[in-house]
Amino acid sequence: MPGPVTVRIHGRIAIAEVDHPPVNALSHGVRAGLWEAVERVDASADLDALVIICAGRTFFSGADIKEFGKPAQDPQLPQLIDRIEQAAKPVIAAIHGKALGGGLELALGCHARVALSSARIGLPEVKLGLVPGAGGTQRLPRLIGFAAAVPIVAEGGEVPAPKALELGAIDVVVADQLEAAAVAHAEALVASGAPLRRTRDLPAPEADAGLVEETRKALAKKKRGHIAPQAAIDAILLAQSYLFDEALQRENALCRELMQGAQSKALRHLFAAEREVARVPGLEGVAPRSVSTVGVVGTGTMGAGIVQAFANAGFTVIAVASSAEKASAATGRIAKAYAALVSRGSLAHDEADRRMARISVTAELASLANADLVVETVTEDLARKQAVFAALGSLTRPGTVLASNTSYLDIDTLAAASGRPADVCGMHFFNPANVMRLLENVRGKHTAPEVLATVMDVGKRIGKLPIMSGVCEGFVVNRLLAKRSREGFFMLEEGATPAQIDTVLTGFGFPMGPYALSDLAGIDLQYAARQVRMAGLTEREKRADFVDQLYALGRYGQKTGAGWYRYGEDRKPQPDPAIAELLKAHAEARGITPREVTDQEVLERCLYAMVNEGAKLLGDGIVARPHEVDIAMVNAIGWPDTTGGPLWWADAIGLPAVREAMLRHAQTAGAEYWSPAPLIERLVAEGKGFYG
Ligand code: COA
Repeated sequence: MPGPVTVRIHGRIAIAEVDHPPVNALSHGVRAGLWEAVERVDASADLDALVIICAGRTFFSGADIKEFGKPAQDPQLPQLIDRIEQAAKPVIAAIHGKALGGGLELALGCHARVALSSARIGLPEVKLGLVPGAGGTQRLPRLIGFAAAVPIVAEGGEVPAPKALELGAIDVVVADQLEAAAVAHAEALVASGAPLRRTRDLPAPEADAGLVEETRKALAKKKRGHIAPQAAIDAILLAQSYLFDEALQRENALCRELMQGAQSKALRHLFAAEREVARVPGLEGVAPRSVSTVGVVGTGTMGAGIVQAFANAGFTVIAVASSAEKASAATGRIAKAYAALVSRGSLAHDEADRRMARISVTAELASLANADLVVETVTEDLARKQAVFAALGSLTRPGTVLASNTSYLDIDTLAAASGRPADVCGMHFFNPANVMRLLENVRGKHTAPEVLATVMDVGKRIGKLPIMSGVCEGFVVNRLLAKRSREGFFMLEEGATPAQIDTVLTGFGFPMGPYALSDLAGIDLQYAARQVRMAGLTEREKRADFVDQLYALGRYGQKTGAGWYRYGEDRKPQPDPAIAELLKAHAEARGITPREVTDQEVLERCLYAMVNEGAKLLGDGIVARPHEVDIAMVNAIGWPDTTGGPLWWADAIGLPAVREAMLRHAQTAGAEYWSPAPLIERLVAEGKGFYG
């Protein structure tokens, strides 16, 4: 079998073409092939230069993530890049698609870089909890200066080729004919007879101490709890104290150290899990139906967000409001949302116009007769939703996918109402639907595989991160969140305070605590949701009726200036003595003697309750793998990505310890709530974790 690197000769220029699908990761075979190509060119009297180019959709996407944690095989990436840089003849990188991580580092070690104008470069290692380990932190600043390099290395953003040209990271940008341009550039370099420009020999730029401090502070806020961005700055600063080779060794050591750490393992797990959840068991090879026109029934907050999500991605959208007045109000609201983006400078005027032109809002359900997909977003009321599905079932074409955005209602009941259960599924978006990435697609009992393949495909096309869930109350996110809320309310009865619980959870890494969040979202909405779910609550859950009490007091949260906290002009939550009184009176009235609830107990009861519920969903086959649970919680509620999601986190703690804590809480809080899921019992008995 031929290796991934093929060398072709064009006159006196060798062209090493790498073909290593899917994304030309710099695996061992690629590195070995490139090493050989450099050796061959250096040794040949008939060859003057080497062009490195990739086949397929992209230039090198980085070091091979799948080799991480395995014994390193020579030539390792830093050695190869050094060999390229030290070559006696020019080596030119020809970049299309993306030059990422080790891919960019290799290009930086070449003597020149030619790129397509559509190409992008970047050092995304920090997103995997790492720092560049093959010279990126030393070579990039030498080429583009300290200030320009800092955000690229520490934030992991991508730079389009024209901008990279301006900065000096790329030498030539062409619209097409990349290989010809790279060969021409190689010939010109040879003809010029100029000495090779080795990035390592350029002077290291002076660090800007002010910029370093500012960036560190900003990153500490923006990437709270993440080690890698700060380590990336440490790595760039190595150039201030060490000569090039020593700095390179230290950079590599830092990268290796981070690779062994829990954060990088968790972030790499999430990278792989994002890709894993796209492969839904049972849908292999199932083709999605074609979708270009999408109907959205209901134009409330969710409906309007969903309309924008589809219009933004180029779909024709027909939204149906319940009256002509509501249709015109919704058109106005959507137009206003786009106008706000334009005035903020995050959307071009003509693009906003194009998006708006794709949207029509009517009050006629019959306008959906030719839709390929309809998303229903009317109020959470079973009878209303059933009526909508019955109407959609008869007025749309057979084969039109009918999806409900319900959060709690049974998809199978809606499917039955439509008379076409095979076409019906759930598409549960999160608010704001045009922003939040997670999408829970829900498989009903009778949903056809092509319908599921369609909503997975459409979800991806609108930029979402879709996961597949089975039918159950609350699906994944709301189901797990309900357990956290339950434990929170129980602990408030037992003696904890909203501020304590919020502090513990933000300390763990959530962006907001549950009570500050609840004040932001609105206690009136939570009250309404609680009423819908009241019949299914246990006696103790009914008794912990804090939401009802706040609602009765008109404390709806930020919008009324008071909820769990009170709010002044600055909208910062302040603990409120009235809430302390309310908690005290609640306990007295119900004969509960408050006790000290420790922070550790708060953490365990809020989070292990979610782990246990995730295990139940997995054990019951509602989700196919633990990956769905982790991806859902990280992307919908801000579960800290540095822990990898609830089930990865539980594995890291060790399931026996998690189970023991659950049994402890069963004694104090009740076995009804704290019996470890059967799956946890089985995994502990087998000495395994959720991930094996
Ligand atoms: N090493 C090994 N495999 C990689 C890889 C890498 N550096 N980058 C991507 N892949 C794999 C993915 O895991 C996926 O594999 P799968 O099909 O088995 O799930 C496959 O390549 C396709 O990747 P995907 O992300 O689905 O394709 P895309 O076209 O949407 O995006 C990239 C391509 C390169 C932009 C994206 O994969 C990416 O950002 N990769 C990581 C780059 C990186 O962090 N490099 C630095 C490593 S230290």
